[in-house]
Amino acid sequence: MNATPAPMPAVNPWLPRMFRIAEIIAEIPSVRTFRLAPESDETPDFLPGQFNMVYLPGYGEAAISISSGSHELRQMDHTIRAVGDVTKAIMRLGPGDQVGIRGPFGNPWPVARLRGKDVLLVAGGIGLAPLRPVIEYLLQNRREFGELKLIYGAKTPEELLYQRQFPAWAIAGLEMEVTVDRGTSAWKGHIGVVTELMRPLHGAKGKTTILTCGPEIMMRFVAREAINLGYDAGEIYVSLERNMKCAMGMCGVCQFGREFICKDGPIFPFPRVASLMQLEDL
Ligand SMILES: Cc1cc2nc3c(=O)[nH]c(=O)nc-3n(C[C@H](O)[C@H](O)[C@H](O)COP(=O)(O)OP(=O)(O)OC[C@H]3O[C@@H](n4cnc5c(N)ncnc54)[C@H](O)[C@@H]3O)c2cc1C
Ligand code: FES
Repeated sequence: MNATPAPMPAVNPWLPRMFRIAEIIAEIPSVRTFRLAPESDETPDFLPGQFNMVYLPGYGEAAISISSGSHELRQMDHTIRAVGDVTKAIMRLGPGDQVGIRGPFGNPWPVARLRGKDVLLVAGGIGLAPLRPVIEYLLQNRREFGELKLIYGAKTPEELLYQRQFPAWAIAGLEMEVTVDRGTSAWKGHIGVVTELMRPLHGAKGKTTILTCGPEIMMRFVAREAINLGYDAGEIYVSLERNMKCAMGMCGVCQFGREFICKDGPIFPFPRVASLMQLEDL
């Protein structure tokens, strides 16, 4: 039931390595993807679901998931929402500017355990970013898996991330259902929460693994609905977020019960964090 062991950075994990912004992609309001290329000859090595600490001199660091699916091009994507000091300052950067990177850190999605299984991915808002690498992995190795389905929800149609990739994902074999909280006159899709779209996949329920990322309350309801539908709680994986500092299990900033989100997570089998997730809102 443990998540796949995490590879640690091969270099000094305290020291940021400099990366250049190769491209900036405007995604949705306040969210941009920064395509980063190393200034050295390193080839970034990471697993789907891991994150980096992105460092901007004079501002500090922020934990950001790696959102690209492949490191073959020697580039890594980071999809960033402007919320505070570091992320707002990063938004002011342009192509050619530099940022520091520490990482990769954290446990990846349990990709090795997914072979031969159906996989249901449930994402909310910018929570699709940490799932994009595993979607790309599953689709690149499509024949190794059973049914692949993504249920994705956002507040409004204009806040649906990576929409330009949806047709390619569908062609590659990903079944998708999309929903929004508030539609527009042009919106013909579903309106409501992601759990309304959850139902048993065609394969045996015991053969399905659920990967979910989004607001914590959404993940709790996804887990509850999945268990009600008969899915195995141990086959539900959630990706948690907390403020981070060292990202290596040393400072305690991200401690969540007995777990350190940076080192033991951010991806956890749901039963391991279920009781803590219930307590969070009290
Ligand atoms: C493992 C992990 C992966 C992440 N991946 C991404 C990503 O792919 N893209 C992205 O945009 N952000 C991501 N985040 C969130 C990001 O690290 C925080 O939003 C970060 O604080 C932004 O730094 P800042 O200096 O801009 O904002 P800050 O000044 O640190 O904070 C701004 C506001 O956000 C709150 N806050 C800070 N961190 C968090 C958090 N982790 N969860 C909830 N509220 C928080 C603060 O309390 C404050 O109200 C991730 C966080 C973690 C732990
Ligand atoms: S961020 Fe320091 S222990 Fe997790």
